[in-house]
Amino acid sequence: MPSDTEITAYLGHVISPLSEKEYLDYRGGALLVSSAGKILAVGPWEELQKSALVRGAGSLKVVDYGERLILPGLVDLHLHLPQVTQTGRSGEHLLSWLNRYIFPAESRFADTDHARKIAHWFFDELARNGTTLACVMTTIHKEATDAAFEVAAAKGSRVIMGKVMMDANSPEALTEETEKSVEDSRALARKWHGYDNDRLLYAFTPRFAVSSTSRLLQAAGELKAEFPGSFIHTHLAEAREEIQFVHDQFPRTRSYLDVYDQAKMLGQRSIFAHAIHLDDHDINTVKTTGSSLAHCPSSNFFLKSGVFAYQKMQEAGVLFGLGSDVAAGPAMSMFCVMKDAQFIQPSYWIDPRELLYRATLGGARAAWLDDQVGSLEESKEADFIIVDPRRKTGIVDNILSQSSDEILSSLVFLGDDRLIEATYVRGRAVYESTTALALAQGYQMSL
Ligand code: GUN
Ligand code: ZN
Repeated sequence: MPSDTEITAYLGHVISPLSEKEYLDYRGGALLVSSAGKILAVGPWEELQKSALVRGAGSLKVVDYGERLILPGLVDLHLHLPQVTQTGRSGEHLLSWLNRYIFPAESRFADTDHARKIAHWFFDELARNGTTLACVMTTIHKEATDAAFEVAAAKGSRVIMGKVMMDANSPEALTEETEKSVEDSRALARKWHGYDNDRLLYAFTPRFAVSSTSRLLQAAGELKAEFPGSFIHTHLAEAREEIQFVHDQFPRTRSYLDVYDQAKMLGQRSIFAHAIHLDDHDINTVKTTGSSLAHCPSSNFFLKSGVFAYQKMQEAGVLFGLGSDVAAGPAMSMFCVMKDAQFIQPSYWIDPRELLYRATLGGARAAWLDDQVGSLEESKEADFIIVDPRRKTGIVDNILSQSSDEILSSLVFLGDDRLIEATYVRGRAVYESTTALALAQGYQMSL
């Protein structure tokens, strides 16, 4: 049996999806977490106090968050680390926006000190926004990406990340020699893939078909096969002009997705951002290969890229989660992304519970990591957030005594970074507000 301080009980209103349709919901609930950062039990605190697990422990630490919400950590399935400096710079469609704002900002990552500074900012922001799993693109630079992994390792972040690969149709400062891109990616994967019991995972990251030769795309597929459990992360069918470009560049392909399919890039743990302009054949291919999509509604609004076929993907049983796509998405808060997912649909009404599912367990499923994270269930990793909707003006003071549906609706439609009191990854606080810091002192309870 665990001795003295090995169990911490976090008390609050525990809400978590269990599947696409089911939720667990305990007011006066508790999450019991081991010192190794695993969830030992979830349930009503009254009952858990009487359980053999707690009785056998002799004593435990209690952190009482009162009426505040305890939710699974948020999953951001697609965003760009080097772009945090470029949010809110729009007025153009994808390709000209990339040339005007993004490529210059990414070129600065040749300076590793600059890259490290931005990485600190980036991972602190992820934690402050309640994101506990992020699928991240860096830049083409090996040293800058290495620095980003070092920062994530030190801060306790959980990420799927990789250096961007670009060997065609790109500015000179961001054009790599194909084999060097492959070698640098392999070296980074060797060093970081699986770090700290899989807290850091590697994604081979050809930016998009526009900036790739077919040799580079094929190599990405081969590298993924070389490193079990690694990912492919890229963009797919986001903007009309981009699709036309790809069509001209790869004339012997049926569609944009087919470019990736021919390069053997599809399969489990292949994550394609956007996927707005797919036909039924493509959707079926995504589904049957077990590939995943990252739906990025805020970005799609911002760059006027189009509308993701949410209902169709849902009905087809395609794996997909939500992505902020910072900086094309202006905010890192997944609550803002959930709201935009609802708002961008012209006629399809998406339930708040479905949206929260997509930003937690649905995202974890799309990353094939739902056996470890995404929901608050026994034996999963203790990745959770403490949320207090009262922290934001415009949300009524008595919200926490209303029904869970009212609470979830206000989170999804009114939420942002201000709601996050604390963020835990594997049982360790990676962000705490001053209120949460004081509460986390907790007390020792003897039984
Ligand atoms: N397609 C290729 N690169 C990018 C990028 O940085 N952002 C977005 N939104 N789309 C892309
Ligand atoms: Zn993107």
